[in-house]
Amino acid sequence: MSTLTYDVAAVRKDFPIFETGIAYLDSANTSQRPRQVTGAMLDYFERYNSNIHRAAYKIAEEATERYEGTREKVRAFINAASTKEIVYVRGTTEAINLVAYAWGRKNVKAGDLIVLTLLDHHSNIVPWQILAAEKGARIEYVDIDEKGELRQDQFAELLERGPKLVAFNLVSNALGTINPGREMIAAARKAGATVLLDGAQSTPHQPVDVRALGCDFYAFSGHKMLGPTGAGILYGRRELLEAMDPFMGGGDMIRTVSVEGTTYHDLPWKFEAGTQAIAEVIGLGAAVDYLNGLGMDAVRAHELDITEYAYEALSDVDGLTLYGPPPSRRAGVISFAVDGIHPHDLATIADRDQVCLRAGHHCAMPLMTRLGVAATARASFYVYTQKDEVDRLVSSIKDAQRIFA
Ligand SMILES: Cc1ncc(COP(=O)(O)O)c(C=O)c1O
Repeated sequence: MSTLTYDVAAVRKDFPIFETGIAYLDSANTSQRPRQVTGAMLDYFERYNSNIHRAAYKIAEEATERYEGTREKVRAFINAASTKEIVYVRGTTEAINLVAYAWGRKNVKAGDLIVLTLLDHHSNIVPWQILAAEKGARIEYVDIDEKGELRQDQFAELLERGPKLVAFNLVSNALGTINPGREMIAAARKAGATVLLDGAQSTPHQPVDVRALGCDFYAFSGHKMLGPTGAGILYGRRELLEAMDPFMGGGDMIRTVSVEGTTYHDLPWKFEAGTQAIAEVIGLGAAVDYLNGLGMDAVRAHELDITEYAYEALSDVDGLTLYGPPPSRRAGVISFAVDGIHPHDLATIADRDQVCLRAGHHCAMPLMTRLGVAATARASFYVYTQKDEVDRLVSSIKDAQRIFA
């Protein structure tokens, strides 16, 4: 589908929240949910609410089928080899912590090098800092250039030091930068590193193929891709997941338990202890169906169209600084600053006009420090974003400039 045939007005009809009149420009934070997703969750609660994997009656069978059905939908969506490689977690943060504990504790030793980047979100920094402190490992960060893109020369130098792990995001939540994932992963694996990709901002916005990317682990959150909060995915290559010990122990992740000890369940359930977020996982399945209905190429094309429009409109505003690369090399995220106006004041004034704009460090404080700012304002777009929402943002910025003049 091209942008010419992409019918954003029809898409918006599936999202009741737009009837409130808001211009929602914070989808990188969390997306809105269409009726198809909330409807699938409500259907579970009202018609077949029950626990999974444990009961023999009909409604529990249906709950199990739908819950497990999401796994195949997600597998196909990211082109994993097997549903055994798709582990349900609460979100990207939990996925990365799972790897840091279950893989990292076993494999990272004193003196080992972990390579991260200055574009990373705190959830891809803090778990590794905790691990490195525990093990006596070192962390190095790939810097950015003046366009907000990773310095590949420096990355190559760090790879020469033989890192144990390389972890980075495919798309930056703060600047929107699309990193050259395939090339970076190939180089990292050639250097002998295990590679974790933070897919929180890539999975919702562009086609993703984990096998073509060649990563070892890939993490993402359902709530940024039209699904509910509380359901996310860790993809891991089967050999790696097989070799890892469980992250949490409890019900459902076992095969047998005796007073002497426990044998664990097969993949992926070995990593899914306790009663799971059943309604949320079913909602995530409906979100994947919805995105497939739009087509991920069409989603990317629509967002590029909006991003180009917004980039140009914001560039025309006097006293406004844009951070990050040009639209063709970024996702639908634009971070900016306006001379003499704190981003939080800007967001407050925008809110008076019902424009939802994010202001802050975007959980990327090392990046803010590198840019020499405490915070930025950030507008981010998705399948339902319309150009008039961008126009409303520009007019709010001009209002703020009049107020602060
Ligand atoms: C790039 C990136 N990584 C990780 C996360 C954390 O995701 P969650 O809070 O859903 O675990 C986010 C959320 O903003 C993100 O943008």
